[in-house]
Amino acid sequence: MIIVEAAIELVPESIQDHPSVRAYAARRGRKPWEILLDRSYHHLAMKRLPEAEKRGRPDITHFMLLEALGSPLNKLGLLEVYVHARSGHVIWVNPETRLPRVYERFKGVIEKLYQEPVVEADGKILLKLEEKTLDQLLDEVKPDLKILLSEKGELMKWSSFGELVTSARRPAIMIGGFPHGDFHKSTYEIVDKVISLWPEPLEAWIIASRTISIVEHALGIGERI
Ligand SMILES: C[S@@+](CC[C@H](N)C(=O)[O-])C[C@H]1O[C@@H](n2cnc3c(N)ncnc32)[C@H](O)[C@@H]1O
Repeated sequence: MIIVEAAIELVPESIQDHPSVRAYAARRGRKPWEILLDRSYHHLAMKRLPEAEKRGRPDITHFMLLEALGSPLNKLGLLEVYVHARSGHVIWVNPETRLPRVYERFKGVIEKLYQEPVVEADGKILLKLEEKTLDQLLDEVKPDLKILLSEKGELMKWSSFGELVTSARRPAIMIGGFPHGDFHKSTYEIVDKVISLWPEPLEAWIIASRTISIVEHALGIGERI
């Protein structure tokens, strides 16, 4: 699973001097350039930013990661998750990572990653951040089927979607990690299929949890217990 164009980035330079950003950074004892852009706190400052409707929502990735890492599919070692952040970085998440449940602590972990790009515990890498494009990530991961999930795609029954995904050896399922708006054209261009799972837009974490459960169902995971 790849969370694509995820609304994760440090506060951009153009709004670092905005009073709402400076006050929030000071409250947390950080510099404005060390904190994640977060619409809950930087709403006024974000009015100056291009594509503002797609930005400043690290909570979406937080929810999606909690769904993914806690799933039976992941516990069985059948899931790998990457976050393709709009900052131009990719975060690899070790399937064994236990992320903070509390959102503010999750943000702290990601902010630290931008300063020290590897989080390790007991000699194991838990999270790794690298400057990387989606193209480069796909070149490395080498999926044999690249599916982009979008409400604009071909509407597919869940059972057919499950069959399609499990027919591939190493499928990549890409879900937008942003609240509103559309993928960039370049994202549509690198995938094999664009599929919709519901006739209207749903929240990204709902699509992530349904996708995982559809695949679990298609693999008969709940039948083996
Ligand atoms: C909240 S949506 C993105 C914003 C949406 N385009 C809008 O303007 O409301 C987040 C992501 O969830 C996935 N998604 C949402 N609805 C979907 C659907 N009906 N079928 C498949 N994927 C969907 C897509 O990957 C999408 O990028």
